Amino acid sequence: MTKKLLFVCLGNICRSPAAENIMNHLIEQEGLGDHFICDSAGTGGWHVGALPDRRMRAAAKERGLDFVGSARQFEAMDLREFDLILAMDKDNYRNILALDPQRKFTDKVKMMCDYCETHTDKEVPDPYYGGADGFNYVIDLLFDACGGLLKSLKSH
Ligand code: 4NP
Repeated sequence: MTKKLLFVCLGNICRSPAAENIMNHLIEQEGLGDHFICDSAGTGGWHVGALPDRRMRAAAKERGLDFVGSARQFEAMDLREFDLILAMDKDNYRNILALDPQRKFTDKVKMMCDYCETHTDKEVPDPYYGGADGFNYVIDLLFDACGGLLKSLKSH
């Protein structure tokens, strides 16, 4: 059975597209492409249709990765459609669950950093207003979290 994963941040141009692309990279490396579908979305709608932020694409490129995608806004239907929804920070988590007033889907929504194996961060920091270091850090953190997430999904 195919599992559908959705990564969510605020703008869907920095953190969640990075998570989606890194997760797809790890899934491909393990030859598990038939088992997972990954997507990403933002709780805000300002950047709908935009590519991942060029600073994020530049940081990815340095590691030989091409980040692709087109930003879209998270919607209530996503709670029904996806099997697992990964929030980058606590605000994202709150805003996702605000679209589930009856609390039917709470169990599907998790914090991305809960899957980290080496980092102790509780949230993926928003790199938007900072420098290149922030983008590099987000990629490191997400490799850790996506690796842990894939391990967890494989064991279930
Ligand atoms: P993201 O970063 O949530 O990781 O995509 C941001 C992108 C845009 C804005 C904030 C955060 N913004 O305020 O436009």
